[in-house]
Amino acid sequence: MTEHFPLTEFESHRTPFYFYDLGLLDRTIDDLLANKGDFHVHYALKANSNPVIVSHIAGRGLGADCVSGGEIQRALDCGIPAEKIVFAGVGKTDEEILLALNAGIGCFNVESAPELEVISALAVQTGKKARIAIRVNPNVDAHTHANITTGLAENKFGINFEMLPDMVSLAHSLPAIELTGLHFHIGSQITDFEPFVKLCEVINRLQTQVRVNHINVGGGLGIDYTTPDGHPIPDFKGYFDTFRRNLNLLPGQTLHFELGRSVVAQCGSLISRVVYVKHGLAKNFMICDAGMSELLRPALYQAHHLIQNLSEPESAPRETYDVVGPICESSDVFGSDEILPAARRGDLIAFRSAGAYGETMASNYNLRQLYPPVFKK
Ligand code: LLP
Repeated sequence: MTEHFPLTEFESHRTPFYFYDLGLLDRTIDDLLANKGDFHVHYALKANSNPVIVSHIAGRGLGADCVSGGEIQRALDCGIPAEKIVFAGVGKTDEEILLALNAGIGCFNVESAPELEVISALAVQTGKKARIAIRVNPNVDAHTHANITTGLAENKFGINFEMLPDMVSLAHSLPAIELTGLHFHIGSQITDFEPFVKLCEVINRLQTQVRVNHINVGGGLGIDYTTPDGHPIPDFKGYFDTFRRNLNLLPGQTLHFELGRSVVAQCGSLISRVVYVKHGLAKNFMICDAGMSELLRPALYQAHHLIQNLSEPESAPRETYDVVGPICESSDVFGSDEILPAARRGDLIAFRSAGAYGETMASNYNLRQLYPPVFKK
């Protein structure tokens, strides 16, 4: 496991920092490209918008899925062509819409009637035409954590499918709007393909009501957080085949995906040092110099990232620890009752599978500092 990490290089770096294995990122994209066939993949920058990572992905020919003006600008700066950019989000501001129109992005994924009216008005004002997809809420349960489920009827995303005919009429009636697609997304970290089959069934039914040039099924393919070295590359074949088998595309229609986590999660780890080992009455605490400000997922979604001590030999005696950060919040916990090699102050600790929604969700809460990332070619 530790050959994954350039330990000598880590010694000279201040912690905490993110480490990215670009070789693994490449092998992941190789597999994605080998299995996607003629489908179009837009990488979801929200998972990781580090310029080195985005430039790397741009170089492999993927498009971008953006949710803010900042992400659109980042995608453009990193070399993703404007026509391969799609722009989603329930609260696009006028400034963001103008940036997207002026850049000439491929598609706006529109989430409400008032948004559609504003895009039309701004497109008229700037003499542009806006290509749009209507985001439909398919009411499919993704069986994932409540905070990352998006396709159920009662959340803020997209429009209810009963309202689709009215949205289509509105799109046809507005100037400077070209309705080109339907957009869906049911949630994230989905490892059972059944919800995707359900999504295909919903889309197949809608296809009889509305005819568009493209279908965008969003992202959501999950990864193996428990054994990252056993499954470093997600099951792209099974995922794309699920859509190949179950979705009835109309002649000439293209199929688009917005994958984030599955592309970047396994190539990244958060690297930290043990500051103190504290022996309590009932528990031992391994107190690290990284916390929820650097990796929020455990505190926000009760997520577990595999924890490895990179400094102690495999043969070291084991101890049981609660692995915690230094932040003044009781949710600042990476793992409870973790059985790990007996730790010493200064040991390097890796929190695995942190390439997605790690660095992008970091903050400087408690005025803390995250040091620059380390990349392995
Ligand atoms: N498309 C849309 C419309 C989305 O809302 C998302 C993710 C994606 C694509 C990319 O999904 P992915 O392939 O990465 O599953 N911060 C959470 C995940 C939030 C996902 C939000 N939307 C986490 O750390 O688990």
